[in-house]
Amino acid sequence: MNIQALINDKVSQALEAAGAPAGSPAAVRQSTKAQFGDYQANGVMGVAKKLGINPREFAQKVIDVLELDGIAEKVEIAGPGFINIFLCKSWLAARAEEALADARVGVATEEQQNIVVDYSAPNVAKEMHVGHLRSTIIGDAVVRTLEFLGHNVIRANHIGDWGTQFGMLIANLERVQKETGEVSMELSDLEAFYRESKKLYDEDEEFAARARGYVVKLQGGDEYCAEMWKKLVDVTMVQNQRNYDRLNVSLSRENVMGESMYNDMLPGIVADLKEKGLAVESDGAQVVFLDEYKNKDGDPMGVIIQKRDGGFLYTTTDIACAKYRYEQLNADRVLYFIDSRQHQHLMQAWSIVRKAGYVPEEVTLEHHAFGMMLGKDGRPFKTRAGGTVRLTDLLDESELRAAKLIEEKNPTLDAEEKANIAKTVAMAAVKYADLSKHRTTDYIFDWDNMLAFEGNTAPYMQYAYTRVASIFKRADVELADLTHPVVINDEKEQALLSALLQFEEAVLAVAREGQPHLMCTYLFELAGKFSSFYEACPILNAEEAVKQSRLKLALLTAKTIKQGLDLLGIETLERM
Ligand code: ARG
Repeated sequence: MNIQALINDKVSQALEAAGAPAGSPAAVRQSTKAQFGDYQANGVMGVAKKLGINPREFAQKVIDVLELDGIAEKVEIAGPGFINIFLCKSWLAARAEEALADARVGVATEEQQNIVVDYSAPNVAKEMHVGHLRSTIIGDAVVRTLEFLGHNVIRANHIGDWGTQFGMLIANLERVQKETGEVSMELSDLEAFYRESKKLYDEDEEFAARARGYVVKLQGGDEYCAEMWKKLVDVTMVQNQRNYDRLNVSLSRENVMGESMYNDMLPGIVADLKEKGLAVESDGAQVVFLDEYKNKDGDPMGVIIQKRDGGFLYTTTDIACAKYRYEQLNADRVLYFIDSRQHQHLMQAWSIVRKAGYVPEEVTLEHHAFGMMLGKDGRPFKTRAGGTVRLTDLLDESELRAAKLIEEKNPTLDAEEKANIAKTVAMAAVKYADLSKHRTTDYIFDWDNMLAFEGNTAPYMQYAYTRVASIFKRADVELADLTHPVVINDEKEQALLSALLQFEEAVLAVAREGQPHLMCTYLFELAGKFSSFYEACPILNAEEAVKQSRLKLALLTAKTIKQGLDLLGIETLERM
């Protein structure tokens, strides 16, 4: 249940009844400190200022008509006119029972929207690098969250599968096939294959001529080139799929909507932009001049949408792509999880999209940018030799390190279980380290931190779940056996329950802002509240009614942590 929204409604009604103009914001937020109650309404001061009246007196008027009977046990005015709201223990307890009885731990669905999420987007014949890793992990967590809220989510893997580089790639694939026979899906080192193609192109005139010919043929729809192109896409995506599966990322081959998909739309787009007077010819190229972007001389910046040689650009594709997502996929909202360095590119593409009227204003195009992944030295994350880190190597290393850790922690488990735990912890650690950081900042990739059992890490959260779940297991009961109701007597119980019931607010925040770290922070704080509760409130040794009430709190905690981690794409373990 969304308690924040409920209280916000109630305070809004009271504001109006007390004389505030209709629609004045109640500004109800979760309280930052326990002494300010569970929620605080900050809207009174703004209204009082507008009306020219004393804010504390106005706050009192609002409280007089505020209807929170049975919901709040205490409502207080604080400071210049904040209203602090303390929720009723019995009301909280009743919500706990509801959440426990619900498979969605009490979270309601939202009105369904069609939401396109553009994420991962690796490039063909190239290894996925750390930038794609961030997009993949963050995007997938948001996708899971939106689906949980009942939305129709379209995963769009905008892979780089088009462009002039395919001439040299096809020419090289042909060469390799002639020399070694049929190429399997194992063309293992794609990065090396790409480099080799480039080298041949640069150094071998005959090869280069053939490659250029293939570009033209491929664009003209030649069957042989199309087949070779498809082979390159297949090999790449088979390899990427292995990474997705390992990482428990919900992408599959059907979600590929690469750049090539929009190719046929591009001539029409350029023609249309010319007709609308948006694109003009400049030095033989087709250019859109945007007033809101100035070049260094202070003149409107030109965005090229078609080169002099007739070729289209990355921007042209993204214009077509946004149009397609609105017209063909009926998107209400489009989220792009892309490196912050592509921000200007997107803003320019979308500015043209809006000016051309391809996507109406009410359909949001959202760039959810993220920073770079840095090494411990604060510089871009690289191998010791200075190359890009292959994702597979990174995941392998995480598994090795996790295996060592589990061996130290729990040497007596059998080998198979140890290996399974290590794998789960390893993937979770890589993901959680990324997810728990504020998306827009660069972040430091640090093995020791991310595999630590203390702090806001995957092992800590997974262990917190295992521990809570084990309390319930030790009690050896089912929820149905717990006939006594939840009763709140201790303030630690209340603090825990109040946090548990804010789960929906965390889910909604992630969906709205595309910031999974909000869920990580929520879960980490929840685990902390559980620890304080568990220290202060014995469970299994308490008398029966109290024991049952506390077991219910433990069960709801376990379910909430599991659900929260699941939305992040993090797997839990029953034993660690
Ligand atoms: N393939 C691109 C890259 O590696 C990312 C594509 C992101 N999506 C988009 N619609 N432009 O940089």
